[in-house]
Amino acid sequence: MRSNLDKLSQPSNEGEGSANGMTVFVRVAKAGEVPPGSGRVVVVQGYPIALFNVDGRFYALSNVCLHRGGPVGEGELDGPIVTCPMHGWEYDVRTGANTINPAARLKRYEVRVDGDDVLVGA
Ligand code: FES
Repeated sequence: MRSNLDKLSQPSNEGEGSANGMTVFVRVAKAGEVPPGSGRVVVVQGYPIALFNVDGRFYALSNVCLHRGGPVGEGELDGPIVTCPMHGWEYDVRTGANTINPAARLKRYEVRVDGDDVLVGA
């Protein structure tokens, strides 16, 4: 016998999704979990995103290094510069630009801070 649980188990897109081009902000971390001078990898709508805190400001970039796909968000952060842990390519997390070739840029994502919550838009 089918019940109302069938209906409840259906996925709902209400208030979500970017099919119409709207940016959706997703809570990804508590601000205190990413202290200044650090980064981490978060997932927004299935995409791995590198989240960094530079002197209290948050920045979000694609986590996929333009060299060979290394996890940028696991790299060491020195000021605004992150070093990919795979082979050492460096990016300015404020712009996503590679420090050697600024024309090579990681995709940037918008970040909002709501109280203690950090949200990333995708
Ligand atoms: S994959 Fe990032 S430097 Fe090679």
